[in-house]
Amino acid sequence: MSPHNKKVVGSGLVWVRWHFCLEFACSPMFARVSSGLSLGSPVSPTVQRGVLSVKWCCSDNEDLFEGYDSIVADSSFLAKLEDVELQTRQCYDQQTPNACADDLSDSMLAEDFRDSSPRALPSSQLEFQKAITMPHKSPSRGAPSSSTPYLMNPGPAVNHADLSVHKPHPKARRSMKDHLKKVLMDNAATASTVSKMVQQKEAVMNEEMSFAMQAMESITSEGDLGPFFGLPSKVKDLIFRLKGIQDLYEWQKTCLSLDSIQQRRNLIYSLPTSGGKTLVAEILIFKELLCRKKDALLILPYISLVQEKVRGLSSFGIELDFLVEEYAGSKGKFPPVKRRNKNSLYITTIEKGHSLVNSLIENDRLDNIGLVVVDELHMLGDGSRGAILEMTLSKILYMSKSTQVIGMSATLGNVKDLQSFLRAENYTNNFRPVELKEYVKIKDSIYEVDPKEEACFTFSRLLNFKYSSGMQKMDPDHIIALATEVIPQQSCLIFCATKKNCENLAGMICKYLNKEFIKHKEAEKATLLGELKSSGNGSLCPVLQKTIPFGLAYHHSGLTSDERKLVEEAYSSGVLSLLTCTSTLAAGINLPARRVILRSPYVAADFLKRSQYKQMVGRAGRAGIDAMGESILILQDKDINTAKNLLCAPMEKCYSNLLHDGGRGLLSLILSLIGLKITTTVEQVKDLMKGTLLSVQEAQVSPEKSLWDLTVESIQTLKQKNLIEVSSDENNQNILQITRLGRATYKGSVDLSYCDVLYRDLSKGLEGLLLNSFLHLVYLVTPYDMVHQCKPDWMIYFRQFTNLSAAEQKMATTVGVPESFVARKAAGQSVRKSVDVVVVNRLYLALVLFSLLKETNLWIVSERFQLTRGFVQTLLSSASAFGSSVLHFTEELEEFWAYKALLSELTRRLTYCVQAELIPLMEVSGVLEHRAKQLYSAGYKTLAHLANADPQTLVQTIENLFKKQAYQIIASAKMLLTEKAEALQEEVDDLLMLPLDLPSL
Ligand SMILES: Nc1ncnc2c1ncn2[C@@H]1O[C@H](COP(=O)(O)OP(=O)(O)OP(=O)(O)O)[C@@H](O)[C@H]1O
Ligand SMILES: [Mg+2]
Repeated sequence: MSPHNKKVVGSGLVWVRWHFCLEFACSPMFARVSSGLSLGSPVSPTVQRGVLSVKWCCSDNEDLFEGYDSIVADSSFLAKLEDVELQTRQCYDQQTPNACADDLSDSMLAEDFRDSSPRALPSSQLEFQKAITMPHKSPSRGAPSSSTPYLMNPGPAVNHADLSVHKPHPKARRSMKDHLKKVLMDNAATASTVSKMVQQKEAVMNEEMSFAMQAMESITSEGDLGPFFGLPSKVKDLIFRLKGIQDLYEWQKTCLSLDSIQQRRNLIYSLPTSGGKTLVAEILIFKELLCRKKDALLILPYISLVQEKVRGLSSFGIELDFLVEEYAGSKGKFPPVKRRNKNSLYITTIEKGHSLVNSLIENDRLDNIGLVVVDELHMLGDGSRGAILEMTLSKILYMSKSTQVIGMSATLGNVKDLQSFLRAENYTNNFRPVELKEYVKIKDSIYEVDPKEEACFTFSRLLNFKYSSGMQKMDPDHIIALATEVIPQQSCLIFCATKKNCENLAGMICKYLNKEFIKHKEAEKATLLGELKSSGNGSLCPVLQKTIPFGLAYHHSGLTSDERKLVEEAYSSGVLSLLTCTSTLAAGINLPARRVILRSPYVAADFLKRSQYKQMVGRAGRAGIDAMGESILILQDKDINTAKNLLCAPMEKCYSNLLHDGGRGLLSLILSLIGLKITTTVEQVKDLMKGTLLSVQEAQVSPEKSLWDLTVESIQTLKQKNLIEVSSDENNQNILQITRLGRATYKGSVDLSYCDVLYRDLSKGLEGLLLNSFLHLVYLVTPYDMVHQCKPDWMIYFRQFTNLSAAEQKMATTVGVPESFVARKAAGQSVRKSVDVVVVNRLYLALVLFSLLKETNLWIVSERFQLTRGFVQTLLSSASAFGSSVLHFTEELEEFWAYKALLSELTRRLTYCVQAELIPLMEVSGVLEHRAKQLYSAGYKTLAHLANADPQTLVQTIENLFKKQAYQIIASAKMLLTEKAEALQEEVDDLLMLPLDLPSL
């Protein structure tokens, strides 16, 4: 085991990443990119021009999928990398410099900009062009190496025959590394040789920026805001070019001019759905990054939203010279890489945001975060995730007085509570760009929702439909009549209570649809079916196969992330006009519709909450497309009264969740406070507690017990669980300290309710760890919280059990699942011997994962275990996340030393349960397995290929890829490449820095 592997942290495989960086950086591809990198403007220049030509709006319609953090140090991948290097070198050898330069020239130079004057280009881009068009001319210092080592000096260093067997000579590698250092050093020292025009242009930008910075410093109550709310006018141009937004809404202008914003006080702003809240937050973020030169943290509630934002803001980052770093799924490095030359925007999920803040506190770097923006602030009231958000914000408020906190939310009933918690001001407006009309349908009549009316509804119209008796029986709620009023020309979403409902309803509707529907966008639908089939390695869902020709599909968590993405894209582009979906679609992604139908006021067996209802109907009305949006809630007589409450009651309130689920949130907050040494005495813990939302809402949330009592009780519980201990300091004062188990628990983000079970399982595992198969290790990282989500099918269990090797069966017996038990269950016989159900179910899930590791085919494994492929995929990603938690857990406990090496390899396998060569492509935000396969077979094999791709060529060669997506993929790839190069450069700078304490005479 190499000592480097110790560095495998969190979900980020650091060593692997570094290794890749070196490998990649040593390639000619990197040489080309790095020739455009200088310390002043280290952005890959090709983007700058490409992005200028983008005319499409960014974001909005993207997907739900898993993230992949890093590159695997896999020999086959490295071999591929070598191949690419070799090919490129051959290309160089064979072509004239100019021909090669053509190939390399800015591929994002879309037609629109082919004839634009080069003098209008940024300096970094001109440098880049110069380097590739005049490869033999050495740069200013005349050194032969400079920033394009291979182009200028292909040299004899590497034997091609060696490359073909994928075994680079170690010395060659070393020399490449040296070369890289030299390149970067030269780069840093190279004087800028740009045209006057460009210098002038940059001077204007710098002037605007310094004006803006001065404005920030000398803000008066009149608010002298500079060209664009304190930002250079380039930002305004970019918002137009990249988002298609020409002018800000009035409320947005007012909000950005508020005193609280100008004086950097905390603020909560609340508006209805689709009000345009995001843009205000983005402008504030740009201001923080560009004018205050601080980092910013944007917390979003879902992985899909993080990925969508990363893709949307990467182009801004490239143009405005800041980094966009993704913290979602398995992505994100703790603590984040220190960047000396650029500021970073961390876009995170709630959970990753918490870990990021912890790591910054631990490394005394929290003050680097100048601004924290929380989207959907009402998530504070959402169970355990709400608790995590509250912990994060409480710590930030306590630890960093200079960090500004901004919260966005839909209108809330108790925003005052949140204001007290965040010590924030509030701005509210009722603006919605597209009018939303809410209706309910009862029998044949449609009523408009009118909270001012006593009855809550006013009659609007009778539904016009002609149903046969058979159809009436099949569709008693007249959903087909409602849907066909809008589809196929306009779009419709139908929210259903369960996943099965979604599938059945989609199937039922298309049974009765006119054959004309098939002709609408027939070719595009055929392509979509083909893509779905290839994403499933030849398997296609029979329901989708039937519904898609009619322009219909279902959408819920049972689909794989690839399928969901394809369905979402097809819906956004109008190929599909109707989706039947569960409530998850309302919150995760922005897929608006002309008409939203709620099939019933239930989510599973529970009556809808007002916030859920608002989220769902909020999807109606597409800004810029529809003049209005409408929602129709279908009601049965029995539900009318409860529904009136739902529709006409005042806005919902948001309450602290630190006491949710037996006070787990409060326990983990106190544990991490002690672990991070934020508080070391009971008094200090109490002091911090005063700054929580729980403290603000103490009377409502915990009428019986005071916060003080709750705090003391929690400290006792932590002591009993052996997670903290009390010792005395020199003044005989009681000091709270974390124990080894406590540290392992909080470092691994392991849930407090099963940290002791985990410890026990791992200890027991060491007594007889089965190592000639992955099964035992897989069992140890099978997430405890998924055990109750699946009941074993005993026949399948038995069949799988008997397929195990004798050693594996023995291991199963040792953990507590004897074959005789499974056999009796499969035979339907009663079992007298008592077994631990959690262990039995957990082993069943471990068998699913074990199969998946061997098979890597989701469809086959789902079928084998009769589970939905979406569930199997979720199980896999949870297991890889839990694997990395367990790894951190074991790292803190010496007795588990043996697990470190084993678990890092296992986690890697679980994270990248795809072909290794696809991993570099899947690192790019928004590229899923299916897209990665397409790109790979079209010749885009590395990050560098993607970052330098020509969007037009991509669109033409990749089936079903729209221009906007192509631009976003390229921009994200460039951003990632820049990040990797920057990290590398930082390390080189560190290495070469003169030590301040160098002994001298
Ligand atoms: N000034 C503007 N002019 C035109 N379109 C705008 C403007 N501001 C925002 N938009 C667009 O309006 C749409 C909705 O904006 P956004 O997603 O920010 O809404 P929101 O208030 O966050 O809603 P939700 O609560 O549903 O998240 C987006 O497509 C956005 O690009
Ligand atoms: Mg929003």
